[in-house]
Amino acid sequence: MRLGIFTSGRRDWNVERLREEALRRGWECHEFPLQGVVARLGERPRVTCLGRDLEEFDLLLVRWVPKGSAEQLVFRMDVLHRLENLGIRVVNPPSSIERCADKFYTNSLLEDAGLPVPPTVVTERREEARRAFEGYGEVVVKPLFGSLGAGMLRVKEGDLAYRLFSVLEYGRHVYYVQKFIPHGNWDLRILVIGERTLGMRRVGRDWKTNVSAGALPEPWEPDEESREMALRAAEVVGCEYAGVDLLVGEDGRKYVVEVNAIPGWKGMQSVRRENVASLLLDHLEGKG
Ligand SMILES: Nc1ncnc2c1ncn2[C@@H]1O[C@H](COP(=O)(O)OP(=O)(O)O)[C@@H](O)[C@H]1O
Ligand SMILES: [Mg+2]
Repeated sequence: MRLGIFTSGRRDWNVERLREEALRRGWECHEFPLQGVVARLGERPRVTCLGRDLEEFDLLLVRWVPKGSAEQLVFRMDVLHRLENLGIRVVNPPSSIERCADKFYTNSLLEDAGLPVPPTVVTERREEARRAFEGYGEVVVKPLFGSLGAGMLRVKEGDLAYRLFSVLEYGRHVYYVQKFIPHGNWDLRILVIGERTLGMRRVGRDWKTNVSAGALPEPWEPDEESREMALRAAEVVGCEYAGVDLLVGEDGRKYVVEVNAIPGWKGMQSVRRENVASLLLDHLEGKG
């Protein structure tokens, strides 16, 4: 098996675990920067990176899509689609990476599939954003394309909402205004790998329960309802493996808050006996 991994080039614990596990199985494993790709069309159509032909690989795993200008981002995703069109297995599929990068698009697909998502208003109209804030009382304002809990603000004060919406208007941002779900500073993360699910509870220092924001993982075995929700959420966005976040409101209602198409599992690994990288490679090898 010849495995290529698109990485950031920096040290990445998840990539290290994958490489370790791949080499243990006797696979070839190469790392590539997505921004280093050269795509040729016409005379000798090929897609290369660091001088290697990417079509030689059995599997290309995307662990990093670097940020950039709109044009760079579109091209990076085009490259992944091109590789898939050439018959190479790209994981997660590029279309699912695109869907999950966009919180509005993901949540609308989840909602259409009957999964509960927090009440949310997404708009370019400041007046409507203000109306949503007033209606919900307390909100989380999120960047449309965000991760690791970065750049999200919890707002319950009118003055803060006013200032924040002014800044967002000035920066020509889209308003993503979501009702704050009181949750006791913990949530549930389910790692879906094919049909398999692994769970943990994340206990935050405050309302943001991202492990990267300092939340502590605790062992938790998904109940049947949570498992079904996570499997369905991953399926709806088209991920082969995914990190699904569930918030549990004070009334016990569960909401899907997001689906990660490039989930890390360091926190999960710290509370599970199974080797997550090994489960992932089993799945990719078809033994999942
Ligand atoms: N509507 C909400 N109500 C309460 N807490 C929220 C809400 N949305 C997000 N959070 C908290 O913020 C964290 C990060 O939100 P999320 O939408 O998953 O963004 P990111 O992509 O940055 O992880 C969640 O894990 C949760 O703890
Ligand atoms: Mg999240």
